[in-house]
Amino acid sequence: MGDSLPVSELTEDSARAELARLAELLARANTQYHTQDAPEISDAEYDDLKRRNTEIEKRFPHLKRADSPSDQVGAKPGDGFSKVTHAVRMMSLGNAFDDEDVGDFTRSIRKYLGLGDDAPLAFTAEPKIDGLSLSLRYKDGHLVQAATRGDGEFGENVTANARTISDIPHRLENAPAVLEVRGEVYMSHADFDQLNARQAEAGEKTFANPRNAAAGSLRQLDSAITRARPLRFFAYAWGELSAPLAETQMGAIERLKQYGFSTNPLTALCETTHHMLDHYRGIEAQRATLGYDIDGVVYKVNDLALQARLGFRSTTPRWAIAHKFPAELAWTRLEAIDIQVGRTGALSPVARLHPVTVGGVVVSNATLHNEDYIAGRDAKGGTIRDGKDIRVGDWVQVYRAGDVIPKIADVDISKRPDDAVEFTFPNTCPECQSQAIREEGDAVRRCTGGIICPAQATEKLKHFVSRKAFDIEGLGAKQIEMFYDDPDLSVKTPVDIFTLQTRDAANLNKLANRKGWGAQSAGNLWAAIDEKRLIPFGRLLFALGIRHMGEAASNLVATHYGEWSEFERAVTAASGFEGPEWDELLSIDGIGEVMARALVSAFAQEAERASIDALVAQLEVQPAKRPDTDGSPVAGKTVVFTGTLEKMTRAEAKARAEALGAKVSGSVSKKTDLLVAGPGAGSKAKKAAELGIETLDEDGWLHLIGAA
Ligand code: IVH
Repeated sequence: MGDSLPVSELTEDSARAELARLAELLARANTQYHTQDAPEISDAEYDDLKRRNTEIEKRFPHLKRADSPSDQVGAKPGDGFSKVTHAVRMMSLGNAFDDEDVGDFTRSIRKYLGLGDDAPLAFTAEPKIDGLSLSLRYKDGHLVQAATRGDGEFGENVTANARTISDIPHRLENAPAVLEVRGEVYMSHADFDQLNARQAEAGEKTFANPRNAAAGSLRQLDSAITRARPLRFFAYAWGELSAPLAETQMGAIERLKQYGFSTNPLTALCETTHHMLDHYRGIEAQRATLGYDIDGVVYKVNDLALQARLGFRSTTPRWAIAHKFPAELAWTRLEAIDIQVGRTGALSPVARLHPVTVGGVVVSNATLHNEDYIAGRDAKGGTIRDGKDIRVGDWVQVYRAGDVIPKIADVDISKRPDDAVEFTFPNTCPECQSQAIREEGDAVRRCTGGIICPAQATEKLKHFVSRKAFDIEGLGAKQIEMFYDDPDLSVKTPVDIFTLQTRDAANLNKLANRKGWGAQSAGNLWAAIDEKRLIPFGRLLFALGIRHMGEAASNLVATHYGEWSEFERAVTAASGFEGPEWDELLSIDGIGEVMARALVSAFAQEAERASIDALVAQLEVQPAKRPDTDGSPVAGKTVVFTGTLEKMTRAEAKARAEALGAKVSGSVSKKTDLLVAGPGAGSKAKKAAELGIETLDEDGWLHLIGAA
């Protein structure tokens, strides 16, 4: 930069060229700094370039570029980390809330594996740390990468920050060539209190709880800040491995300990469900004195060969579960009951509370579920809370379990104000005044306004652009509200987002002239929308906001059909809720009848279907990947199991076949590629023979899939 001309000597032409050069240099420096953790210029040089850019713009305001570096605020944390693709997906855990759930869990595992009640089956039990998970990758014993969980598939690269945590070794002796160690980053109570005191003294923001403090500290763009934060790490799992660590969960944890990781001292091996629950109560009794937050106990099948047989559902392992501690409670005054209208028209009562701290978090809103709940009735007309209803002005008990929305659990009638009146649930929609009706068997009253109801339409749109759906940068709930009401932009349904640019070329300028917008931000939004025209099948389906079709269910459907066009054909053909396509939909593990009905109905409803088709015409839908099917001999094939299987249960056979990319069907038809018949096979085997379908016995099948 030493040879650059002083700004006062630049001509208009050389100024234009210089602004272009600076824009490029600064953009490159930004990427190096924020996403590659490898800046090539010093902070001082960076500041100099930026200052020079501003000076030139001041002298020649009309030359300011649309992508001027001075309009770019420093990347906020979260935007600043590069993405890491996890070599092995980072899973979450299913939950058990009481002893019975734990019994169900162990029983379902026995059933899946075909183990009798008396066959030995050991579990490890250890605290569930309330922090954030981290995956550490070691190559030839060197720490080369650290990544947050993110959405399980992609995490954030926080390597520089992880290196500052003293519980995390940088070198491992005698480790497998590739070793991914997974565990939890957390902050102790004592460190948390000290940190908050320091922050308060310095006039900086304080944290609501140790978990937030740990997350905020790990996700700092400046690793010097992370270094100054007292973070800790417990190792409890692993991802990719070039060689197994041990034969058991306990053995693997022991190996991690030998490598120098902290492992939780309360990890125990339990031979029976009774032991597991005993250990749970033991940990619960120590909870308050541990010095760090835990929110339950995790049980894992100890035998790693059994873990491998059990495998995973879409986002959780079958071989582990989190037994959560009971929720935290507090009493406060109910100040008002508001009715919110959701994207499916459901009228949901929300309790507005006098703010109260529940388990370290200030709560001022809680759900009241539905009108029966307020009235003290359950869905079947029985009573709950001994029939006590809830009224504005009442003293109510709030509870919170983990990250879920706080709920109202109980009411203290002895403190009820004299003027408190019974709550009347509205039978019209508070947003569009349409009738709100309750169908038989439905716990929820729903607005009948459909898309004329602005609340339903905007909630659907907000869901459509939300993080797990289309996740369009710069288009969040606030912008949706504005675009919905804007007569020019008029975004009323999802397709309108993608036709903003083609409906009227002037839209870009119209948006750029809005308050809070400019040419740059409008241009960025247009680009962000275009970027999402290519969308994975599962995300698209989830984004449509069909009742009962959550993220996991949408992904299951996507993985089953693979191609959108194939799904569309099948779901259309299933419109009578019968026939092979309907049976196929119900055969998907994890898709029940309620979901299947909602899905088929949505596609059969004319207006909704037209809106989906119009949307899809604007998109390129990415087929869903079937997991681990590279080189699989049964990928894409339709397989039917019949008769008695002797080496595995039906559930296991089905899950394995699906993991290899096969479709498992319950009935033999022309579309069947393969029949696996055990002893006692009857009509299905006969039909397969008539149709000339290849038939194998169980050993033949195991041989085919390389599991013999
Ligand atoms: S095992 C494949 N063990 O809980 C299973 N998770 O709710 C991998 N967690 O994302 C997880 N303590 O962040 C496991 N002892 C423990 C844990 C634990 C905390 C977290 C973890 C996970 C979340 C799931």
